This record gives sequence, C-alpha cells and structure tokens, in this order.
Amino acid sequence: CETAYQKFLRQHYDNPKSNVGRNYCNAMMQRRELTKPTCKDVNSFIHEKKQDILDVCTDKGGKAYKDGLRVSLKPFSVTTCKHKGGSTRPPCEYKENKSERYIVIRCNNRNEPVHFDESI
Ligand code: C5P
Repeated sequence: CETAYQKFLRQHYDNPKSNVGRNYCNAMMQRRELTKPTCKDVNSFIHEKKQDILDVCTDKGGKAYKDGLRVSLKPFSVTTCKHKGGSTRPPCEYKENKSERYIVIRCNNRNEPVHFDESI
C-alpha cells in the first residue's frame, strides 16, 4: 500500500510540469485522485527534482521552521490549485497560481517529506 512519502509524491510532486492540456489543475487534481469523493480545496504541485525536495528535510536544502516544519533554502517552482467554489462534488473546477515560492513541509524520521504545509 501507499506510504506517506509515496502519498506526498502523488499529491505534490510533478517534475517536469506535466503537459495535460488547457487547464492544468482540473486535469492534475483528477489524475492524482484528489477529486474523490469530493474536490480537495487546495493542493500544490512542486516542479523541481525529487532530490531537491528530499534535501529540504536536511541541512543541505532546508532549515527548521515553526512547529517542527521545514522550509526550503531556495524558492521552488510551485503550482497551487484552488477549488473555485460551488459544489464540492466532482466535476471539480480549479484555478491555478504558478510562481516561485519557498516550500514549508513536514518530514518523517527518515528525512522524507510527508506533509505539504504551505508555500511562502
Ligand atoms: O491548510 P490546510 O490544513 O487546510 O491544508 C490541508 C492540505 O491542503 C495540506 O495537507 C496540503 O496537502 C494541501 N495544501 C497544499 N498547498 C497549500 C495549502 C494546503 O497543497 N498551499
């Protein structure tokens, strides 16, 4: 079954950014199974190398932030998808916001990311 790290990758890792047609968020939220049984409200996809994301869990690429979270030392390319409102049942309609932001994540004791908190 899916580990917490595998779930993090499914939900938050997309590098290089997938070519999925007109509306990246509508396609990706469905493809990564984030629209069942209801539309996930907010979800971010990171367009950087897996190793660079892993490095945020160590001194190489990240540092301690509040509440045991870690923040990246450099800004990452991130697309955040936000549900447009209306019904929370599929089909889900999202708007996207792509920019360079520092990511805030939680890591497990094997230095793998297991939670995406925010990007700042
Ligand atoms: O902030 P909140 O606790 O509602 O976030 C719930 C989930 O939404 C997070 O665990 C994360 O998967 C996702 N999220 C995200 N990008 C953000 C904020 C939240 O992917 N900027």
